[in-house]
Amino acid sequence: MKSLIQSTFILIAVLASTMGAEDVIRFAQVGETVKLVPQPPNPQRHYVIWHFHDLNSPYLGSANSFGGKTISENESWKKWLSMEGYSLVISNIQEAHFGKFIFKMTSSDLQSPFFQTFRIIKVDVTMKPPSLLLPEDSLSLTCTVGVQMPNKPSIQWLNAQGQKVTTRNGLHTSRVTGQDNGQWTCVVTSNNKEQKIPVSVKVADFSPAPSHKYTSTSSSLSIPCSILSNIWEQLKTKDIEEVKWDFFPQAFSGPVSRDGQKLFSLSLEDPLTWKKDQNRGLSPAPDVKNGNLSLTRIRGKENDRGSYECSIKFKGGKILKRTVHVDVLQIIASPGTEMILGQMVNLSCTTGSPLPSDVQLKWFPPEKPSVSIPDHHSARLTIPEVGSGHSGKWRCELWQSNIRLTSAVVKLSIVEPKMNVWMVVIICSTAVIIILLVVVAVSIRRRRQRRMRHLRHQVCQSPNPKDSTEHNTTVSRGHGNQLNLYPKEMNSSVI
Ligand SMILES: *[C@@H]1O[C@H](CO)[C@@H](O)[C@H](O)[C@H]1NC(C)=O
Ligand SMILES: *[C@@H]1O[C@H](CO)[C@@H](O)[C@H](O)[C@H]1NC(C)=O
Ligand SMILES: *[C@@H]1O[C@H](CO)[C@@H](O)[C@H](O)[C@H]1NC(C)=O
Repeated sequence: MKSLIQSTFILIAVLASTMGAEDVIRFAQVGETVKLVPQPPNPQRHYVIWHFHDLNSPYLGSANSFGGKTISENESWKKWLSMEGYSLVISNIQEAHFGKFIFKMTSSDLQSPFFQTFRIIKVDVTMKPPSLLLPEDSLSLTCTVGVQMPNKPSIQWLNAQGQKVTTRNGLHTSRVTGQDNGQWTCVVTSNNKEQKIPVSVKVADFSPAPSHKYTSTSSSLSIPCSILSNIWEQLKTKDIEEVKWDFFPQAFSGPVSRDGQKLFSLSLEDPLTWKKDQNRGLSPAPDVKNGNLSLTRIRGKENDRGSYECSIKFKGGKILKRTVHVDVLQIIASPGTEMILGQMVNLSCTTGSPLPSDVQLKWFPPEKPSVSIPDHHSARLTIPEVGSGHSGKWRCELWQSNIRLTSAVVKLSIVEPKMNVWMVVIICSTAVIIILLVVVAVSIRRRRQRRMRHLRHQVCQSPNPKDSTEHNTTVSRGHGNQLNLYPKEMNSSVI
């Protein structure tokens, strides 16, 4: 009895040493390259041999310490096998190659041969559908292990972001979004060892870009819409029916119009070219062949406000769509941009719609020491009395975190108070009257002086009374003339 127990013990010990403690398990898909790396002791002279299934089966490959190598001539193996040192490499593994591999090392330095066993287990990974997906398409991924194993391995799918997704019996199903584009992984865990099998999932979608863009008449406008170039290449082979841009205008502070205007449509013949439908001065990006469908303009315009829709329509009805809303920043000066010294002015910096909470507004008054404003961040500035220092360029900027979205500029000019028209008329006519009065007064004085001189002259020259009466009549006539002159001149001066 004792000897029986002893011999059983010895048998178990021999088995353990010949077959190794545990198989090294490798999961692989058909077509993968698998390298089996044994970890034997390192005796000086040795001979290694690889067998498939059991030690009685023909060998697969062998190597010795002198560098000699052989590979099986068996037609089922020959093309796929190679030896790298002691390691056996199976390239493009086939159905027939899954199973148990035995590594055996013999050496005169070792008391008994060293064995290590490997098991390559087939994993089936399938993706349905296998082709390029569109957002909302359903995707199903399966990852199954080909053989019944005593310790059932656990299987978990990771999405393109490396996050665990619901997996039941190796199956994961979902409706895809653009974020699902990328490498998914099936993680097979057996004996606490993880093995990852990658799968590439391709989902056509637009590249991430802000859905809200800002512009102004003093900054540029760009409306982004692009598809990753490798996806665009594949997308072109899908049945695209139409690629176009539509514009839905929005009035200042008003709602977005439901009536769209077609801006551009892409002619799908090679080379791809945009056909202009509505001319709004927008230019398509030059690299449309790489999937860049963006539109740009050097300067924004007030009527750029609205929604821009970039869409790709496939045969069968699916549509891939991206909407970009454009807001135009403006500075509105009330009562105007030209003001009189001392007037009250309101400046408001607005897009016509409320700003999102993460967008900040900032004012930059003209760079003059005399100008200070109470609040650089309020949308409305009130200047109770403008001074000459307020003239110049006022700028207002929109910021989101550390990015300047856009800026708008207004130029204020301040003038001295203008004279009233009636004041001008009164001042002018008063001046004219004064000038005329002066002229009249001077001419009367001159005449009187001349007459006095004349009279004195006549009195001195002729004592003849006849002459003197004659002279009198002249004088009286002269007086009459002078008297008549007054109303006449007064009249003209009034007129
Ligand atoms: C070749 O290998 C296959 C698969 O291991 C085996 O079934 C077959 O018997 C081998 N052929 C010969 C001639 O050894
Ligand atoms: C697309 O083109 C626009 C305008 O030329 C450019 O600003 C933008 O960076 C391009 N986008 C991509 C993804 O190449
Ligand atoms: C400026 O705004 C205030 C209220 O904030 C208003 O009372 C005033 O009439 C406005 N002035 C002008 C010139 O628009």
